[in-house]
Amino acid sequence: MNVAIVGASGAVGQEFLRILAERDFPIDNLVLFGSERSAGKKYTFKGKEYEVKLLQHNDDFKDIDVAFTSAGGGTSKEFAETITKHGAVMIDNSSAFRMCDDVPLVVPECNAEDALNRPRNIIANPNCTTIMMVVVLKPLEALSHIKRIHIASYQSASGAGAAAMAELQQEYKELVNNEPVTVSKFPHQLAYNVIPQIDVFTDNGYTKEEMKMFNETRKIMHSDVRCSAMCVRVSSLRSHSESVWIETESPISVEDAQKAIAAAPGCT
Ligand SMILES: NC(=O)c1ccc[n+]([C@@H]2O[C@H](COP(=O)([O-])OP(=O)(O)OC[C@H]3O[C@@H](n4cnc5c(N)ncnc54)[C@H](OP(=O)(O)O)[C@@H]3O)[C@@H](O)[C@H]2O)c1
Repeated sequence: MNVAIVGASGAVGQEFLRILAERDFPIDNLVLFGSERSAGKKYTFKGKEYEVKLLQHNDDFKDIDVAFTSAGGGTSKEFAETITKHGAVMIDNSSAFRMCDDVPLVVPECNAEDALNRPRNIIANPNCTTIMMVVVLKPLEALSHIKRIHIASYQSASGAGAAAMAELQQEYKELVNNEPVTVSKFPHQLAYNVIPQIDVFTDNGYTKEEMKMFNETRKIMHSDVRCSAMCVRVSSLRSHSESVWIETESPISVEDAQKAIAAAPGCT
């Protein structure tokens, strides 16, 4: 397959490269894209160097089979036509298309079959907190319909991108050296702190991040589940955590829940 990565220099783009190598994904040609900021930068993939190309409205995606895009919602919207017009499948990590009726929102462990129906040649990935939750909800839903979920999330700096991760590390350095602390990517100092707000508030009093969990979970699970989330940024560099209270239509024993989760793909 010919594979493109749009946003190769970013936190997600770098993970794409790492995981494609780890899984020995069958790649004939790999093309990396970015903005003027990273164009010309070189990254090593399986011992070979690749130079980042400037993302432009041209025919660069003509021979691409799959494009993993992770360069923000605005870039995805602007370049979707350019990326897909010759037949490439765009697997988009941004929030640009997640709730569009003609774009499937897919977590392979839950609803891989939805990816087969993609009228615009776009497959959307959900928000990170939603992905890790639905992988666990899916085997429980098979035991009894899940009616309601209450979530408390603990989300690391990585969820805010590469520059935000650098800021957290910078803050720790500055604190150790008794220097003024740089605060720019997060609304407050994150080092030695937790921030109980991710993204802006919507009219109903939940933040956008919290509403993503509500809307995206329902779309992926094809469910009417009600979902109340409280999303918090914590001062770890990587790895999110969640506590999830689940209310099912009929009772499930702890043993049955444990067995179902243990047998589900992607769960440990
Ligand atoms: N971090 C996560 O855990 C996570 C989880 C789920 C979804 N997402 C989503 O994934 C996307 C990227 O997130 P991230 O955390 O990787 O952000 P990031 O570390 O800030 O990286 C952003 C990437 O987008 C590229 N980019 C920005 N504007 C561009 C443009 N006009 N043309 C081409 N490339 C452009 C940047 O390239 P340059 O360096 O050249 O500017 C960079 O590679 C966002 O939509 C985010 O919401 C992130």
